[in-house]
Amino acid sequence: MRPTDTLVRLGVTDVATATIVFVAAAASSLAVFVALAVDAHPEWGVIGMLAVCALVAERQETVLTSRLAMSAAGPIGVLAAVVLGPVGGWIVGFSSMVTTARAPLAKWFVQSNLFAASCALGGFAAASIGPLEARGSVRVLCLQALAAAICIFGANLLSLAFIFVLRRIHPLMATMRVAAATGAGGYMFAIPVVAVLAYAYHVAGLPALTFTLLPLFGVRAVLQLYKEKTELLQRQSEGDIAFALGLIRALDERDSYTAGHSAAVAVYAHDIARAAGYGDDETSAVQLAALLHDIGKIGVSAGLLTKADPLSPDEWAEIRRHPVIGERIAGEAATHLDIRGTIRHHHERPDGTGYPDGLAGEELPESAAIVGLADAYNAMTSPRAYRPAMTPEEAMAELERGRGTQFLPGLVDVFLVLLRLGDADYRHGFGSRFSPAGQRDAILGELAVRRQLVASAS
Ligand SMILES: [Fe+2]
Repeated sequence: MRPTDTLVRLGVTDVATATIVFVAAAASSLAVFVALAVDAHPEWGVIGMLAVCALVAERQETVLTSRLAMSAAGPIGVLAAVVLGPVGGWIVGFSSMVTTARAPLAKWFVQSNLFAASCALGGFAAASIGPLEARGSVRVLCLQALAAAICIFGANLLSLAFIFVLRRIHPLMATMRVAAATGAGGYMFAIPVVAVLAYAYHVAGLPALTFTLLPLFGVRAVLQLYKEKTELLQRQSEGDIAFALGLIRALDERDSYTAGHSAAVAVYAHDIARAAGYGDDETSAVQLAALLHDIGKIGVSAGLLTKADPLSPDEWAEIRRHPVIGERIAGEAATHLDIRGTIRHHHERPDGTGYPDGLAGEELPESAAIVGLADAYNAMTSPRAYRPAMTPEEAMAELERGRGTQFLPGLVDVFLVLLRLGDADYRHGFGSRFSPAGQRDAILGELAVRRQLVASAS
């Protein structure tokens, strides 16, 4: 068997994974080496007991998403770091992962070694606060628990980010937020519990640590509650997006120009938001709002939307109701209320001459300005019954002319760069990405990715 076959079987299939495995092995070995150098007399009885507790805790993990699971092994790692120092921290941390070993072994190797190294780091941090003799002091124990918790939690987050960046896994920020929010709660809960258990150990010795597993059930209950809450929100969110996509399908049946135009606006608005520095959630909200920005046209007489002759003032007034109608329709989506304002204000202008509220300058929500900019560009480059399409270059010159009056200047700059960097199809709004079906797939694909938020992938 060639060495490469063995590596592939272990899960080391690319350079990024090989680098991650190497870094995990190096960090873990360094932690063990330094820990043994500073702590030559490990307390094996206590180590064994906490190792068993950590192993039980890890087996009681709560699965939050398909790739994100939390357990109380972290808080037990903090306890081991405080009570035992770096050697015990490493052994207890590694022991917690023993029964989770399964193919591909590279992933398990990285998770177990990085966690063990982080627990050893927590041990160094705790030992730096105060020596063994000081453990009769509750104040010192609290500080040690705090230092160990910060180190283990921080090291876990850093290793997660390192793995994500190296393996180019998305969405990075959303996953880090979930991991930080769930982890922070568990570790904050751990600090006073660890201080109490460590004090009990100081007073009563090994038997006091038999209570270690009790707080685990508390952690588990908190995680379970979090899981139920996020699952409920996720189901509501998916239901609302299905509702929105159904509306687009209905609009497509009635007015295929508006549906196609909405999909193109969603592409441009998504890209502008991303280039303007919006995060994953904000970009998705802008994309969804852009897809639905003209949904209110369902409430406008069909003949008006395709009329080739000039519109009367009354007809214009009816068409101008569509942002308000759209806001009301989007309001039916319980978890996406944030897109209502974007839909209502997508025809406002920085100079205050837009509608329906005549907002000006700072009053104009930036998300609405993004959708308005994308809307104007795609409308100009699309042929209508009453005028031919402008070329992309003519439309881009119009965007320049409207800078500061019709459009926010910063957004115009961002969009012009995107258009210049894009190819001719991008500037014309051609291709499957610009179709209603393409946008449906993009949004559903994004949802699928979010359902698989990765925590400890390697
Ligand atoms: Fe509109």
